[in-house]
Amino acid sequence: MTQPYLFEFPEIGAPEKGFITVAENLKNIPFEVKRVFWTHSIPAQAIRGNHAHYRNQQILVALQGSVTVITTSPSGEEKSFELHSPDQALYLPPNVWRIMNYSENALQLVLSSELYDETDYIRDISDFQNQWK
Ligand code: TYD
Repeated sequence: MTQPYLFEFPEIGAPEKGFITVAENLKNIPFEVKRVFWTHSIPAQAIRGNHAHYRNQQILVALQGSVTVITTSPSGEEKSFELHSPDQALYLPPNVWRIMNYSENALQLVLSSELYDETDYIRDISDFQNQWK
């Protein structure tokens, strides 16, 4: 099973004139993007996520501020990732439990392989954990 991993987007530009960061379907994004959403104004004490997906794959980017993501794989392996630069990305494969929290000013971009579908969510941790048994 694929594990979550961090990677970097190519950046075009220079400090004196700024940068363009590019994400392209099936090139540096390992899936076809069907949905894009972004989150903002999340209080620093809020814990979000607390779910996994059956099919949906995602790329998370901290366009501004920082995002901390703790993932748990179906094997029970836990990992922590810190996104703090707009050229970094976190790939989340299906079937990974995630919790996120955000710096006060964080602006997070999420690229998704699937359209929104509530039936694709595993929201009960015991349903997720039962897979390991
Ligand atoms: P959720 O994915 O649980 O957010 P988070 O992981 O950041 O806590 O979504 C929160 C709510 O927003 C939930 O009621 C579903 C809804 N939602 C949509 O309607 N469409 C979407 O594309 C997304 C991502 C969420």
